Amino acid sequence: MKLRILSLALPCIIALAACNGSANKTTANTAMKDSITYGTLPPDSAFEKTIDGKQTHLYTLKNKAGMILTMTNYGGRVVNLLVPDSSGKMIDVSVGMAGVENYIKSTERYYGATIGRYGNRIAKGHFSLDGKQYTLATNNAPNTLHGGKKGYQDVVWDAKKLNDQTLELTYLSKDMEEGFPGNLHIKVTYTLTDDNSVKIDYDATTDKTTVVNLTNHAYFNLNGEGSGTILNHQVQFLADNYTPVDSTLIPTGKIEPVKGTPFDFTKPETIGARINDANEQLKNGKGYDHNFVLNKHDIKVPVALVKGDKTGIVMEIYTEEPGLQFYSGNFMQAKNIMKYGEKDDYRTAFAMETQHYPDSPNQPQFPSTVLKPGDTYKTQTIYKFKTK
Ligand code: GLA
Repeated sequence: MKLRILSLALPCIIALAACNGSANKTTANTAMKDSITYGTLPPDSAFEKTIDGKQTHLYTLKNKAGMILTMTNYGGRVVNLLVPDSSGKMIDVSVGMAGVENYIKSTERYYGATIGRYGNRIAKGHFSLDGKQYTLATNNAPNTLHGGKKGYQDVVWDAKKLNDQTLELTYLSKDMEEGFPGNLHIKVTYTLTDDNSVKIDYDATTDKTTVVNLTNHAYFNLNGEGSGTILNHQVQFLADNYTPVDSTLIPTGKIEPVKGTPFDFTKPETIGARINDANEQLKNGKGYDHNFVLNKHDIKVPVALVKGDKTGIVMEIYTEEPGLQFYSGNFMQAKNIMKYGEKDDYRTAFAMETQHYPDSPNQPQFPSTVLKPGDTYKTQTIYKFKTK
């Protein structure tokens, strides 16, 4: 699908309720029966299901500028993110699925999800805390990825729509769930602000010392879902250093300068320009799948800028986290059908996960991910959209 223009779909976005029913019937190809006309929202009914005794739904947030964010409490996932391009057309920059069943069946587990208890990898599923050894499931052999076998992407969050622009998700991650100590009370608040930002506030407290590294795993394509690869997107990071990894994507422990490497995004560069260079790190990551060490992380300064070459949509990232995992969709294998009927082909989306560094529980030289009883884990990340 080339970039699909929304002139026809736009009235549907505005009159959501009226259009939801008919939108699903427009796709002739039965193999793609779950797909939806580009730019319209999936019907709420596609997100109604009881999982583990809890009800899932689709929640729609809208700001004054007309931007729309839909989320499901199944995995705390971003489903649609409709933002205006330079001509005012609405582009869905979130690569997501048409319904809760699609997410359940997907071979890729993390589409749009809120990730935890520990975002990214913990080496060999082991870490120790206060002299005690903890063992986790190694769901990404030989390591633990994104919280283990049943991470937060697969749980049903309790959701409360606080107003038209704010969704509050809460979850109690029980003591020893997936092997992590402590009852962790989590609150993640997604706000769609009037300056076209998605603001994410993470809060957590524990009753036993534990490790926490929460993030969001939205898959973006700033040219719109289904518009081809992201290789011509332009990227710039406020990062002079990154954490190189071994062949299993665990940081070696070193913090190395990006200068003179394909990891130097201190000036704008396309994702594709150097992705196939003969470089050991690119080989280990099968492309970009690395943590960038942010020079600053004080929320007022953008740490990343990404621009869609076809739409001119620019995404700025602001965060209080010290790291940014840039994943260039290297494991995408066209095995799943996304919401507008296109397959999730190789490198047709990217993720920018704000976080602490991977494997920090085993790397004392990295900023700490330990949370103690009485302390509050509190961090904010903002994805801001504009056109230039
Ligand atoms: C993160 C990881 C990647 C991959 C994706 C999801 O970005 O670093 O290796 O697991 O999540 O597939």
